[in-house]
Amino acid sequence: MGKITVSLIKADVGSVAGHVIVPDEIKEVARNYLNEKKEEGKIIDFRVFNAGDDLELLMTHTRGVDSEVIHKIAWDVFKLAAEKAKELKLYAAGQDLLVDAFSGNVRGLGPGVAEMEFTERKAEPFVAFMMDKTEPGAFNLPIFKIFADPFTTAGLVIDPKLHNGFVFEIWDIIENKRVFMKAPEEMYDILALIGSKGRFVIKRVYPKEGGALPPDEPVAVVSTEKLYKIAGKYVGKDDPVAIVRAQSGLPAMGEILEAFSFPHMVSGWMRGSHNGPILPVPLKYSKCTRFDGPPRCIAVGFQLNNGKLVGPVDLFDDPAFEYTRMKAMEITDYIRRHGPFEPHRLPSEEMEYTTLPKVLDKLKDRFEPV
Ligand code: 13P
Ligand code: 13P
Ligand code: MG
Ligand code: MG
Repeated sequence: MGKITVSLIKADVGSVAGHVIVPDEIKEVARNYLNEKKEEGKIIDFRVFNAGDDLELLMTHTRGVDSEVIHKIAWDVFKLAAEKAKELKLYAAGQDLLVDAFSGNVRGLGPGVAEMEFTERKAEPFVAFMMDKTEPGAFNLPIFKIFADPFTTAGLVIDPKLHNGFVFEIWDIIENKRVFMKAPEEMYDILALIGSKGRFVIKRVYPKEGGALPPDEPVAVVSTEKLYKIAGKYVGKDDPVAIVRAQSGLPAMGEILEAFSFPHMVSGWMRGSHNGPILPVPLKYSKCTRFDGPPRCIAVGFQLNNGKLVGPVDLFDDPAFEYTRMKAMEITDYIRRHGPFEPHRLPSEEMEYTTLPKVLDKLKDRFEPV
């Protein structure tokens, strides 16, 4: 068998009770359509999830990344689902579909994409992470920890196959540029960039040259689409997704998940305008209710079997993450009490694309020089 591509493509096409969940009726539309495409042999396998109000399509195939066939399938699912959402009068029906016509690729049209093509190993465990009410930079901290922090990933120290470290592909999503950097050698420089998570975003991670794994096949990928850059106005957060491969020359599944045991601060939450902790939750809690949050992350684990998906395992459905969730709720209570004050509310530069400028606009003539 040649290389396999795993594609995780998502969009918010409408939700129930405000921005809370994708209802079963919509997921059914997606499943039925993807099942047809599976029977036609266009994709090998698929699963449909919801990360809060985001419809998530996980597909496997042999068509490589950026395949027009695959992106068209995803686009058609979102269009059909948005039609159904309109029929049901769902909230924000069609929210993330920012253009009317498909033009070869969903990037730049609204949906978020994380996909990678690689040679399926003898055993190929991977995890799909899906976040709601936050932005792509929310993955910087955990992805860095997974592939560069020896206090998270013991294998970086004690497994010769990981000991050389990894290569990070980091995007400047404001200036649309990228840089490849090596860990551990350039660790401090990497952190200098990715600590600014609203601008510098880890896009992919690669193995280094000379190791057991092909250096040109990614081992992790994150969606980095910026919705406001496409729409020119606030339409919802760029709720991100990521795929991370595990074990045998890569961080173990438990090392990957360990990175989520710290509920770090991310931006998003209510009206996409607040900082708050990210909550790792089981699928049943994949719904943002308190102040439209707090932002959260689900994780589903699979083994690949010649492109077929064996799974999912609901990875955060574990009391081992209970303490993280409790901690996150303590932080939630603390930061919520700031109300409209920074740093709970985002700094004003980041509010540029929200509805705040309209409020400030009416005051502009009342300002006088001092
Ligand atoms: P097993 O010995 O259960 O395969 O576990 C190895 C491992 O990677 C644990 O992190
Ligand atoms: P979504 O980006 O998940 O649609 O949320 C938008 C929002 O404004 C939540 O308060
Ligand atoms: Mg929404
Ligand atoms: Mg969302």
